[in-house]
Amino acid sequence: MDFMKKHNISVLLAEEEIQKRVAEMGAEITKRFKGEAVYLVCILKGSVFFTTELAKQIKLPMEIDFMTVSSYGAATVSSGVINIKQDLSGSIEGKNVIVVEDIIDSGHTLSRLLALFKSRNPKTLTVCTLLDKPDRRVVKDVKVDYTGFVIPDKFVIGYGLDWDQRYRNLPYIGVVEE
Ligand code: IMP
Ligand code: MG
Repeated sequence: MDFMKKHNISVLLAEEEIQKRVAEMGAEITKRFKGEAVYLVCILKGSVFFTTELAKQIKLPMEIDFMTVSSYGAATVSSGVINIKQDLSGSIEGKNVIVVEDIIDSGHTLSRLLALFKSRNPKTLTVCTLLDKPDRRVVKDVKVDYTGFVIPDKFVIGYGLDWDQRYRNLPYIGVVEE
């Protein structure tokens, strides 16, 4: 494809590979919460592709909610301060909350979100991320329950992840080569 040549994008995780892993994660979550209802929290915008695919693989009664957050400061460096642009539409009190993230990088976003959600007294609080870049972690004590793929410290795009708001619609995860 033209844009791949123009920006020198290479495929890190193919579409089929992602689908297979998402199905496995859905099955694990189904098993873990057997007989209970779950409350999926999609962190917009990056997690929207992952959330919808994962939701279809979780065979449990489910509510899906959305939260829009953004970090302040430079585009590629997380500042540790998050800005909640749109909060959840419902109460999570007493519910099995599953936070669905696209990628954990510094860990700042997740750490702030977990503190906020804990203060709202859910029954359980679980984190599910498609990608993890552990080499970049600044906040060391964030606990991730389900990880799709551990990836190297490279900037990735596609399957919801953006580069300056573009490329979210790529069906695979790509790496932007220098
Ligand atoms: P953290 O707060 O540093 O963990 O940042 C997490 C957020 O940074 C993610 O939800 C993404 O929006 C963004 N991000 C981190 N790494 C990448 C990347 O490689 N590509 C695209 N977005 C990224
Ligand atoms: Mg982003």
